Amino acid sequence: MTITVSTTPWNSIEADWLIVGICQNDDWGSELQGLDDALGGTLTRLRETGDLNGKAGSKLAIHDAQGIVAKRILLIGLGKPDKLDGARVHKSMMSAVRQISEKQETSVAVGIPADAAGSLSAGVLAQIVATAAVTGPVGQDLYRKEPGRYPLSAVTILTTTDAESEVTSAVSQGAILGEAVNLTRELVNRPAADIYPESFAARAAAMADSCGLKCEVLDEAKLSEEKMGSLLAVAQGSDRPARVVVLEHAGGDANGPTLALVGKGVTFDSGGLSLKTSEGMKTMKCDMAGAATVLGAMSAIARLKLPVNVIGVMGLVENMVSGNSYKLGDVLTARNGTTIEVLNTDAEGRLVLADVLAYAVDRGADKLIDLATLTGACVVALGVEVTGTFTNDESWQSDVLAAAGRSGEHAWPMPMFDHFGELLKSDVADCKNVGPRWGGAITAAKFLEKFVSEKPWVHLDIAGPSFADSNKPHREGGGTGCMVRTLVEVATAF
Ligand code: BES
Ligand code: MN
Ligand code: ZN
Repeated sequence: MTITVSTTPWNSIEADWLIVGICQNDDWGSELQGLDDALGGTLTRLRETGDLNGKAGSKLAIHDAQGIVAKRILLIGLGKPDKLDGARVHKSMMSAVRQISEKQETSVAVGIPADAAGSLSAGVLAQIVATAAVTGPVGQDLYRKEPGRYPLSAVTILTTTDAESEVTSAVSQGAILGEAVNLTRELVNRPAADIYPESFAARAAAMADSCGLKCEVLDEAKLSEEKMGSLLAVAQGSDRPARVVVLEHAGGDANGPTLALVGKGVTFDSGGLSLKTSEGMKTMKCDMAGAATVLGAMSAIARLKLPVNVIGVMGLVENMVSGNSYKLGDVLTARNGTTIEVLNTDAEGRLVLADVLAYAVDRGADKLIDLATLTGACVVALGVEVTGTFTNDESWQSDVLAAAGRSGEHAWPMPMFDHFGELLKSDVADCKNVGPRWGGAITAAKFLEKFVSEKPWVHLDIAGPSFADSNKPHREGGGTGCMVRTLVEVATAF
């Protein structure tokens, strides 16, 4: 698919579909007015009959557009202009693109009136549109004979001469972000038979090669040499050997600070001997979403050539049941020397992260963000669309929350009172790997905190938003690629 920028008037652009953003206000602005004139007043009449109101989330298709060059028009409601933000534009665009991508070879032009955009610059708008044009037409039907949707054949983003150069660079950034999100989604959507530690690492290495990242893959021998006893214990019940992948983007000053992105990559979580139910297990191919998010974000950070130093560290294991599985009562020694009493083998994500967080610190991380499908408790607390954030450094957390806000992604801070940490005291080791039932997302975060050597750190629990169990008009079910855009935004501002 190619995305181009054009200053052609809306009525004379050629496309199978012309997508037009429309706000809920009386004043349409010159672009929409010009389009309405060319259509002989169709839009005015639709407004008079109440069929076209610009309400957020509304859509109206005109299949046989007369008087303009494009074949069809899809009008998408953006709501009240003073309430318009990036998240709203993203959602509306996603739903529009998804509606029209069920046919092959569809070309699209997109126009959003400059005055409707309010506080959003033409560049920001264009970036959102480009990202949606890349992610919207991709489904989770990788394994189907007949795909349910097809990439758009061409996308034209309509703009003004003034904004043309800003929009052009924003469009290529938006496309890179969209491809990064799709990479994350694809890896999450592939089942555990196809994505396991070694195959994930091979995908990471291929990606690194294609976008100029340094990549190291640590095998089991190297992992025991690096004393990752906690991660290796989780992996030992599986026939699939563990891997840790380290990606390096050295875009900043040689002595500048390093941002570390750390991901939980449990390629399948059966629960281990604390076995999950079938109901709880059926989506557990998604338990490597943290690692896939790091991989997606690193690909975009490299391709955008961001002038910062970033390392991505992914802990890859499969949590399985066998005669060699780690057991309840086992005492593990993590990389940083902390001993851990295992009281539930299904609380495995934190055991993997313990070692990769400590490793990232040892590799020179100055600030860390980890991403993990860590706890069902976080989903209970915040629902399926909000990422929980946990930190040892409020100011670093507010940077991450601000980046999420600018990216239109939902994240919310959770408390980290000391008393939650006390719930992890063990009689036989430095700590145990589970606390009591209540506050489970927080005790999990308190556990992770022990492994970051007091470096500024934010933990993102993406158990809810990283995987969707059904389709919605604005997004496909399966892997969502949530937080990829936020991570890239954090790196941009780092
Ligand atoms: N991978 C799960 C968490 C999860 C749950 C992810 C639902 C996505 C959707 C994690 O490894 C897990 O099993 N957590 C346990 C922790 C408990 C044993 C303390 C949980 O949440 O039940
Ligand atoms: Mn688990
Ligand atoms: Zn898990």
